Amino acid sequence: MVSLRENPLRVGLQQERLPEPFTIVIFGASGDLTQRKLVPALYKLRLQRRLAPETTIIGFARRPWSHDYFREQMREGVEQFGGGIDTPALWEEFAQGLFYHAGDMDNPASYQALAQLIQELETQRPTRGNQAYYLAVSPNFFPEAIRQLGQAGLLQNPRKQRLVIEKPFGRNLATAQALNRVVQEVCHEEQVYRIDHYLGKETVQNLLVFRFANAIFEPLWNRQFVDHVQITVAETVGLEDRAGYYESAGALRDMVQNHVMQLLCLTTMEPPSSLTADSIRNEKVKVLQATRLAYQGFNLSKAAVRAQYSAGWMRGKPVVGYLQEPKVNPQSVTPTYVAMHLQVDNWRWQGVPFFLRTGKRMPKKVTEIAIQFREPPLSIFPSVAQQANPNVLTLRIQPDEGISLRFEAKMPGPDLRARSVDMDFQYGKTFGMASSEAYERLLLDCLLGDQTLFTRADEVEEAWRVVTPALNIWDAPPDGRTIPQYEAGTWGPLEAEQMLTDLGRHWRRP
Ligand code: BG6
Repeated sequence: MVSLRENPLRVGLQQERLPEPFTIVIFGASGDLTQRKLVPALYKLRLQRRLAPETTIIGFARRPWSHDYFREQMREGVEQFGGGIDTPALWEEFAQGLFYHAGDMDNPASYQALAQLIQELETQRPTRGNQAYYLAVSPNFFPEAIRQLGQAGLLQNPRKQRLVIEKPFGRNLATAQALNRVVQEVCHEEQVYRIDHYLGKETVQNLLVFRFANAIFEPLWNRQFVDHVQITVAETVGLEDRAGYYESAGALRDMVQNHVMQLLCLTTMEPPSSLTADSIRNEKVKVLQATRLAYQGFNLSKAAVRAQYSAGWMRGKPVVGYLQEPKVNPQSVTPTYVAMHLQVDNWRWQGVPFFLRTGKRMPKKVTEIAIQFREPPLSIFPSVAQQANPNVLTLRIQPDEGISLRFEAKMPGPDLRARSVDMDFQYGKTFGMASSEAYERLLLDCLLGDQTLFTRADEVEEAWRVVTPALNIWDAPPDGRTIPQYEAGTWGPLEAEQMLTDLGRHWRRP
C-alpha cells in the first residue's frame, strides 16, 4: 500500500470536519442494521478521531438486555462486519459510551425514561444537549416513534435535536405523504435526515464531480448525443433471512424508489447553482417532477416488469427459489426483480429512454450506470460499420469502482478492422485507498448538520409518484396474484428482455 506522503493524489483527502459531541439514540438496537452497519460505522469514526470522546450511544429496543450484553453484541458486530478491533483499549473506551434502554415504541413511559437516562448520562458525558434519534426499526413503527418523541419533548430544539429515518419512507405516494405530515407536525425539515445509504457511497457522490467539474462530458450529456441510459443494480444475494421485512417490501420499495431513483436523479439533474443541500435537492426534485413511466394504464407492462427468482444455480451451487426461502408465504407474489423504462420530459432528455433494473440472485453483484451514445451519423468505413459498437460511458458504482469509456479502435494489421476498447479509470488504483463505508459518511454528516446527502420531503414524494402507478397495478388483483419467474443465477425474466428488444435495444451484460 502506498503511503499518504508518496501518493500526491491522496493529499487533501482527509477532511477535518469534526462534529460536536452527541447522544445518539438508535431505535431497533437489537436488529441487524445496528449490529452490522451503524455501530461499526460509529466505531470507525471514533477510530479516525472524528467523533468526540464524550459521544454517547443509547440502544433502544424491546428485549430486556443489559448495558453489558448490548456492548457484547456490538463488539461482535464490529468484529464480524466492521473490520475487527485492532486497538482493544480504544474499543474499551468506545464501549463505555454504549448504553441500552429497554422500552416499547408505543409506550409514553418508555420515552420519559429515555429522556431521564439521557439527562443522567449528560452529567457524566457532556454532549451539550445534542441528540440524534435514529429510527432503524420496521417502517410501520415510524409514525408512532416520531409522535412519541415529539410528545416526550425530545425533538423540540431544531438546532440540537435531529431525527434520522431509515428507508423505505412510506409504502407508496399516499403513505409517504402521510408520514411526512407526521414528521412536520413534530419537527422542522432542517432536523430531518431521511437515509438513502447509496448517497453515502463515494462513487455516487462522484457523479456530480464527474459531470460538473469536467467540461468535456457535459456537452454530450443530452438527447442530441445520448441514445439511452441503463442503470443496473444487481445483487447475488437472495432473501438473506429477511422475510419479515422483504415480503411486504419487494424490490420496487426496497431498491427502486430510493437507491435506483437517486442514481437516476444524479445522472439526469441540471447543474445546481451552488453546493448547498437545498440547491442540490432542488435540482433533484425538478428532474423527478419531469420523470414518468414511459407507458401507463393498460400499457404499463411495456414500461414496468417485475419477477421473482425460482430455484437455480449460483457459482456452481444449487440455491432455492424465493418461495422456498424460510418464512416466505408459499403463495407470495413479492417481486425480487424490477425493470422499468422511464422518460424524463425536459429539454435535455426528451425522448431518451432510461432503463432501470434491479434484482436479487443475479449472476454478478454490480451497480453501474451506462450511458450509451448515438451511432455516428454516417460510416465512412463500410467494413468497420458492420462491426461497430456504440460508444458507452460506464460509471461503475460498485464493486471495482471506476469509470470506463468504450470506443472503437483499429486493430493492428493490413485490414481495416475495428474492435471495441476501453479507457479505464479505477478508484482503488488511482487513489490507493478503499472508500469509506456509506454509513460512516452519512452518520458523520448528520452529526455535522449537513443534509446534502439526505432526501428532502418533496424529493421522497416525487420518487414515489414516479413508481406508484406500477405498485397500484402490481398490488391489486388480478395482477397481484401471479408473477413471472426467473431462474436464480440468470439476468432476469424474458419480459424484461422483451421490453428492450421491442425498442431495438438490449440489456448490457455487465
Ligand atoms: C438495502 C436493501 O437498502 O440495500 C437490501 O434493503 C440490499 O435489500 C442493499 O441488499 C444493497 O446495498 P449495497 O450497498 O450492498 O448495494
